[in-house]
Amino acid sequence: MILYFSVTGNSEYVAKRLAAALDDEAISITECIRNERYLFKIKEGEDIGLVAPVYGWQLPYLVGDFVNKSTFEFSGTPYVYYVATYGRNAGNSANNVKADFEHHKLKLKAQFGVKMVDTYTPFYYVNDAKDNASIERKTEPQIDEIIEHIKNKDADKYIKDIASPLAARIGQAVYEKARQTSKFVVGDECTGCGRCEEVCPEGVIKILDGKPEWKANQCLLCLACYHHCPTNAIQHGKSTKGKGQYINPNI
Ligand SMILES: Cc1cc2nc3c(=O)[nH]c(=O)nc-3n(C[C@H](O)[C@H](O)[C@H](O)COP(=O)(O)O)c2cc1C
Ligand code: SF4
Ligand code: SF4
Repeated sequence: MILYFSVTGNSEYVAKRLAAALDDEAISITECIRNERYLFKIKEGEDIGLVAPVYGWQLPYLVGDFVNKSTFEFSGTPYVYYVATYGRNAGNSANNVKADFEHHKLKLKAQFGVKMVDTYTPFYYVNDAKDNASIERKTEPQIDEIIEHIKNKDADKYIKDIASPLAARIGQAVYEKARQTSKFVVGDECTGCGRCEEVCPEGVIKILDGKPEWKANQCLLCLACYHHCPTNAIQHGKSTKGKGQYINPNI
């Protein structure tokens, strides 16, 4: 079983590549939450994989909450692994995952990372298709290597770009500060199509009078509304203007 959370398709692509190569099943955490599925029966010899993006040098809290809330029924000691998909630094996310699984008496055996296009457009640009394609090409050997490690049940910390828990608190603080939904603005390009409401994993967007409104003070800041908007009508203050939108082309 490979659980994944994905907003712009990077983690979904990795989870599905792993599932295909390992004859396993990729299960969307967003779908599980929508369907209130929190019970997972792990067969003898079955692995437990988690693939997720890094947010503010941490595991997105939605993923942590989901793992904590879930029940894993298992016998023996399943091989548990985590694959971070990230743009620059996976921060402290593997320690977050380790603690969340320990809560279920499951030991995180292996930590992997795949460096992918960084979707955090308040900081970074994703508007150069050539740059994106070059990063996408480089992910393939990284995924192939992870598949081999999982097949061999290798147990180690393989993520290259990490931060100490103390340093990662800085990234977390920046992320926490940016999470206010009051920063979102909608331009005249909005057609009222409702896509942003549909893709928001937190359900905080409602279309009212043909325009999105944010119904909570804070959100996950996953930027699904921003990246999936067909007319690029949503901005996060002035910080995202002209930075481009990104969806992994393999999805
Ligand atoms: C709110 C937010 C915070 C992010 N923080 C980090 C980070 O701390 N370190 C990093 O390397 N990438 C960061 N990223 C980039 C994503 O982790 C990366 O692009 C990931 O592959 C996206 O996964 P997805 O396409 O499956 O949603 C962040 C992206 C978002 C939206
Ligand atoms: S996805 Fe974009 S165009 Fe559609 S309702 Fe939301 S902001 Fe408007
Ligand atoms: S409002 Fe936008 S950024 Fe916030 S959780 Fe919903 S989709 Fe993600």
